[in-house]
Amino acid sequence: MADSIKEMGFAGLGRMGGNMAARLLKNSKIKVTVWNRSPEPVKEAVKKGAAASKDMKDLVGRLKGKRKAVWLMLPAGNVTEQYFQELLRLLNKGDILIDGGNSNIHDTLRRHKEAEKRGILMLDIGVSGGIVAATRGYAMMAGGSKEAYYFVEPAISAMCMKEGYSYMGEGGAGHYVKMVHNAIEYGMMQAIAEGFDLLKNGRFKNLDLGKIAHLWNHGTIVTSFLMEMSESALKNNGNELSKLEPWVDDSGEGQWAAQEALEFQVPFVANAYALHTRRISRKKADYAYKMLAAIRNEFGAHAVKTKK
Ligand SMILES: NC(=O)c1ccc[n+]([C@@H]2O[C@H](COP(=O)([O-])OP(=O)(O)OC[C@H]3O[C@@H](n4cnc5c(N)ncnc54)[C@H](OP(=O)(O)O)[C@@H]3O)[C@@H](O)[C@H]2O)c1
Repeated sequence: MADSIKEMGFAGLGRMGGNMAARLLKNSKIKVTVWNRSPEPVKEAVKKGAAASKDMKDLVGRLKGKRKAVWLMLPAGNVTEQYFQELLRLLNKGDILIDGGNSNIHDTLRRHKEAEKRGILMLDIGVSGGIVAATRGYAMMAGGSKEAYYFVEPAISAMCMKEGYSYMGEGGAGHYVKMVHNAIEYGMMQAIAEGFDLLKNGRFKNLDLGKIAHLWNHGTIVTSFLMEMSESALKNNGNELSKLEPWVDDSGEGQWAAQEALEFQVPFVANAYALHTRRISRKKADYAYKMLAAIRNEFGAHAVKTKK
C-alpha cells in the first residue's frame, strides 16, 4: 500500500479551518498540529486533541515524519501569500503545501510554479459546505500534485462528506472548479431571492414565506442546500427580514469567474447579473441612477426627486 499521511500541520482556525481541524481529529487517527494568529481557536483545538504551535516555524518543526504536510486555511490574497512564502522557505523537497482558501486562480497558478521550483508538492483545494459542514462534512475539489493528493487523501476523506471529494487535475484545477461553483451559487441565490420578493410583493400579500421554503425543501425541483439556507434564514430573521439592511457583499469569486468567462468568450449572464445586483445593493450605482433621472428630465421633463 502507498505511504499515506500520519500527521498534518493546520494553519488558520477560523470559521472554516477550526471546524475542519475538528473533523480531522474526530474522524481520523492523523496527528494534527495547529497554528492560529489569535490563541483562543488553538486552545479549542487542543481540547479536541490537537497539538499547539506558536508560529509557522514551530508548526513545521513539530512535524516529525519523512514527508511534512501543511494545510493553509487563511483569507485569500496577501495573508495566504505571506504564509505561503514562509512555508516555501520552511518546507523541504517532497513536502506538501496545501492552500484550502478561495485563492484567485492566477495566484494559484503562480504559486504552483514557485513550489515546483523548490520541489515542494502543492495542492490547491477548493472547500465548500459553509459552517454547517462542521456536522455534515465538507466537499473538496483538489488540483495539483497527484502524488500529494493520494498521500493526503485520508485527511481529506476524514473532513468530507462521503463521495464529496475528488482530484480535479493539474495545478489550479481545484481552485478553478471551486470558483465556478461559487459563480453558480451567485446565480442560484439571486434567483431564490427574487422569487421570494415576488411571493412577498406580488398578487398575494399574505403568503407564509417560511412555510413555502419549508415545503419547497420536500420533493420539489428547487429542493437544495441553498433552499434549506433560505428556510433557516426566514426562520431566524422572520419573514419580514426586518433587522437586515438590503446590502450584499461579494468576496471575489463571482468577479473572477465573470472575468474568466469574458476572456474565454463564454456567455455567463446569471453570475454577472447577480454580481452586479450585489454592487447595486451597496449603492455602487447611485451616480448612474442620478444620471438616468437627469437625462429623462432633460428630454421629457420627467419627474425627478431632488434632495431637500
Ligand atoms: N466561510 C465560508 O463559507 C468559506 C467557504 C469556503 C472557503 N472559504 C475560504 O476559506 C478561507 C478561510 O475562510 P474563513 O471563513 O474560515 O475565514 P475567517 O473565519 O475569517 O477566518 C480567517 C482565519 O485567518 C486568520 N487570519 C486572518 N488574518 C490574518 C493575518 N493577517 N495573519 C494571520 N492569520 C490571519 C484568522 O485568524 P484569527 O483567528 O487570529 O482572526 C482566522 O484563523 C478563505 O480563503 C475563504 O475564502 C470560506
